[in-house]
Amino acid sequence: MKEKNSIGKYLGRYKWKYFLGIMTLFIVDFMNLYIPQFTGEITDGLKSQTMDMKGVLQGIIKIVLVGIVLTVGRFSWRYFIFGSARSIEYDLRNDLFAHLEKLSMGYYNKNKTGDLMAHFTNDLNAIRMSAGPAVITSFDACIMTLMVLTKMILYVNMKLTFLAVIPLIFIAIGGVYYGRSAEKRFAEKQKAFSDLTDQVQESISGIRVVKAFVQERQEQKAFAKANQDNKDKNMQVVKLQAAVMPLLDVVIGLSSLITLLYGGYLTINGTITLGRFVAFNQYIGMLVWPMIAAGDSVTFFSQGAASIKRIKSIFKQTPEVYDVAGETDDTIKYLEGAIEFSGLNFKFTQETPEVLKNITLKVEKGSTLAILGRTGSGKTALANLLLRLYNVNPGMIAIDGQDIRKVPLKVLRENIAYVPQDNFLFSDTLKNNIAFGAEDNDINLVQKAAEEACIHDNIMEFPAGYDTLVGERGVTISGGQKQRSSIARALMKDAPILILDDSLSAVDTNTEEEILKRLKTNREGKTTIIIAHRISTIQNADQILVLEEGSMAEYGTHEELLHRQGIYAKMYEKQQLEKQLEAV
Ligand SMILES: Nc1ncnc2c1ncn2[C@@H]1O[C@H](COP(=O)(O)OP(=O)(O)O)[C@@H](O)[C@H]1O
Ligand SMILES: [Mg+2]
Repeated sequence: MKEKNSIGKYLGRYKWKYFLGIMTLFIVDFMNLYIPQFTGEITDGLKSQTMDMKGVLQGIIKIVLVGIVLTVGRFSWRYFIFGSARSIEYDLRNDLFAHLEKLSMGYYNKNKTGDLMAHFTNDLNAIRMSAGPAVITSFDACIMTLMVLTKMILYVNMKLTFLAVIPLIFIAIGGVYYGRSAEKRFAEKQKAFSDLTDQVQESISGIRVVKAFVQERQEQKAFAKANQDNKDKNMQVVKLQAAVMPLLDVVIGLSSLITLLYGGYLTINGTITLGRFVAFNQYIGMLVWPMIAAGDSVTFFSQGAASIKRIKSIFKQTPEVYDVAGETDDTIKYLEGAIEFSGLNFKFTQETPEVLKNITLKVEKGSTLAILGRTGSGKTALANLLLRLYNVNPGMIAIDGQDIRKVPLKVLRENIAYVPQDNFLFSDTLKNNIAFGAEDNDINLVQKAAEEACIHDNIMEFPAGYDTLVGERGVTISGGQKQRSSIARALMKDAPILILDDSLSAVDTNTEEEILKRLKTNREGKTTIIIAHRISTIQNADQILVLEEGSMAEYGTHEELLHRQGIYAKMYEKQQLEKQLEAV
C-alpha cells in the first residue's frame, strides 16, 4: 500500500458523491444568505410604510420557498457526504480485517487483541467523522464565512463589516493553537481507549483463571485504573473544548457589540436603512455557526489524523510469510507427504534464543513420526514450522523433495491437517466446528470424522446433537471433548499430512487406544506426526524423536530407543511403573 495516498484512495472512490454533496451544500449556504435580506426588505417596507399586507405575504412566500430549497438541499448533502463517509468506513473496515487475516503469527505474538479491537471501533469512527462531518464543517466554515462577509459588505456596509470582524481574527489565531493541542490529546485518548478495551478483553477471556485465583478484586482495580485513565484522557479533551466554546461566545459577543454601536450610529445618521441594520445583525448571527464549525472541523480532523496514523501503521505491516514471486512453484497442486529436515535451526525473534537446533531427519511418505519431549523443548515450534506459520532459512525443510518455501502457502496448509495444542473451537455448532475448513460439510462426513475421533457418542448425548452450540452462547464442553472435536476437524480434511500436537493428553487411555487404532487404518499410506507425552501414545510409530531443549536427543524406533538405555528408556520405565501402580 502506498503510504501517502492510503486514505485518499478511499475518498477517490466517492468523489462524485462528494462533488454533488459539496454542490448542494454550496447552494444551501447561498440560499441561506437571502433570508436576512428578505427580512430586512420587509422591515424597511414596514418602516417607510410603502409595504402593504400583500407585500409582507410576498416576502414570506419568498422566505418559505427558500426554506423548501434549504430543506431538500440539507437532506441531499447529508445523504451524499455522510453516506460517503459511511461507505469509506465500511471499505476501510473490510480492508483492515482482510489485512489482519493476512498478517503472520509474528505480528499476533507482538500485538494485543484489545488494541486491534479498538482500531475497529474508535479509530474507524474517528476516520468516518473526518470523512463526513468534518468535510461539511470545514467547507461551511470557509464558504459560509466568505459568503456572509461578502453579503455584509455588498448589501450593508464595508466599514461596519470590517469593524465587526476584527474580533473574529482571534478565532483564527486560537484555532492553530487549539488544533495542535487537540491532536495530542486525541492520540492519548485513543490510546487510553485501546488499553481499556484490552483490559476488558483479557479479563473476560481469562475469567476462569481470574475466578480460580480469586483475583476479581485485583482485576476490578486494574480495570478501574484503566477506566480512570480513559476518563482522564477524555476529560483533557472535554476541558479543551469547554475552554474554547465560551471564548467563541465572547468573540461573537464583541462583534455584536460593535455592530450595535457602530451599526446603530450608521442607521441614525441614515447611512444604512433600519432593514439593513436588522439584516446585518442576522448575518453576524450566521457567522457563529461557521466559527463553531471551524473549531469542530479542527477537532474532527485532529482526531481523524491521530487515527489514520494508527490505522496506517497497521496497513504498513507486511506479512512475514507469503508466497514469494519467483520462489513459489505454482505447479505444485498437492502434497505427497514426504518430509525432510536438514540442519534445521530456528528462533522466534532475533532477540530470543534458538528453540530448535540442528534437526536432521526424514519422514517417509505414509510413515508416522512421533515427537516426545519436555514442555518447552520445541515440539510445537516444529509443528508450526511445517505449517510455515514462521519462515525458516532455505534448505532446512523440504516437502516431497521441494523446499517448503517453494510450495504455495495455500497448497501447503490445505494439505496438512493440524490439531493445535490449544484446541480452539469457535462459538458455533459442533457440526460447523468439525466441518471448518472442509469443502463439504455433509453431515455424514462430519459424523464419520467424529466417529474416528471417538466423539460421536458424546455429541449424540447432547440434546441438540451436532447442532449444539459451543462456548459463549452454548454448552461448554470438557477439555477432552474439545480435544476430540479438534481431532475430528482435522480428520475431516483427510489430508496427506496429519499433525497431532499433544492432542490425546486429555483423553483416558482406553479412548486413546481406540483413537490410535482407528488412526492406524484411517491414515494408511499417509504421513502422520504425533506429538505426545505418553509413551503408550507413540510406541508404535515408525520413528520416534526425543527433543531436549530443541536438540535431537534420541531418534529411532521404540526398540532401538529402549536399547539405548537413554532418556526414552528411562521415561518408558517410569511410565510402566506408574501404570502398574494405577492398576493396584
Ligand atoms: N512466540 C514465541 N516467541 C518466542 N519464544 C517462544 C514463542 N513460542 C514459544 N517460544 C519458546 O520456544 C520454546 C519451545 O516452545 P514450544 O515449541 O511451544 O515447546 P513444546 O511444544 O515442546 O512445549 C520455549 O522455550 C518457548 O518459551
Ligand atoms: Mg507444545
